[in-house]
Amino acid sequence: MRTVADPRSLRAVVQAWKKDGQRVAFVPTMGNLHAGHYSLVELAHRHADRVVASVFVNPTQFGPTEDYNRYPRTLAEDSVGLVEHNCDLLFAPTVETMYPFGPDHALRIHVPEVGDTLEGAHRPGHFDGVATVVAKLLLMVEPDLAVFGAKDWQQLLVVRRLVRDLGLPLEVMAGPIVREPDGLAMSSRNRYLDAAQRARAPQLHETLQWMRESFADGHAIKAIEGAAVRRLERAGFVPDYAVVRRTEDLGVPEADARTGLMALVAARLGNTRLIDNLGFD
Ligand code: PAJ
Repeated sequence: MRTVADPRSLRAVVQAWKKDGQRVAFVPTMGNLHAGHYSLVELAHRHADRVVASVFVNPTQFGPTEDYNRYPRTLAEDSVGLVEHNCDLLFAPTVETMYPFGPDHALRIHVPEVGDTLEGAHRPGHFDGVATVVAKLLLMVEPDLAVFGAKDWQQLLVVRRLVRDLGLPLEVMAGPIVREPDGLAMSSRNRYLDAAQRARAPQLHETLQWMRESFADGHAIKAIEGAAVRRLERAGFVPDYAVVRRTEDLGVPEADARTGLMALVAARLGNTRLIDNLGFD
């Protein structure tokens, strides 16, 4: 696996593959890679001849009080893992490369509607930062396929919208959520949890399953949402939201909707904010 930090070398390698008729997939990440990330690299390999991964902790998607400075940076270990998963090229740019005018002076892409609700409402500017860096990365890599995790379902919808609205010629694919044996969705932020918090963390996923069962039992969405928030509070979380939304656009479902729905939750355990989701169909 080659590692490059500048877009010129990146383009040279990718363009040579494409000239050769090879299909190129791209898996963007912020590093501190785990089995969830590697599952996307494997999925990418099943649908392309070459896989490019990026590791870049993107400053513009973190709020001023969020964990940008302490976000785990483990590039050496990440490289080893990417080699083991047959990644062909690692793009690991600097902040200066991605933001030549500085992160605070960069252009910003805003994805309306699907980017404004839930995470967008609780983390103002977050999806502007995501959309901006993903657009920059896609323009640098020029992949035929980009792979994102269903763990960040709203991010996936934001990226799909971005790609369509900019008319970028690539396919966007989603990989399923990879979980720990006890149900906790894998996340780089899980390492912030102390032992007591880690023991409680699976209740996030249990609450999602409870929401799905309650819905299948015919309970009203509003009642399920209220009860889910109280359930999370009893389990020691400070919830931001626990909602049932339309899977395709995260809109509020009609009262009689029975299909195309999912539950999404975001909640804090101490200083650590966790998100998860579960489809109902
Ligand atoms: P990061 O949190 O590193 O995640 C990179 C990719 O891995 C995302 O598509 C995310 O949804 C996926 N992922 C994370 N945990 C997963 C799990 N348990 N199962 C399956 N997939 C999982 O998401 C970002 O980085 C950034 O916002 C990025 C898109 C790179 C832009 O900066």
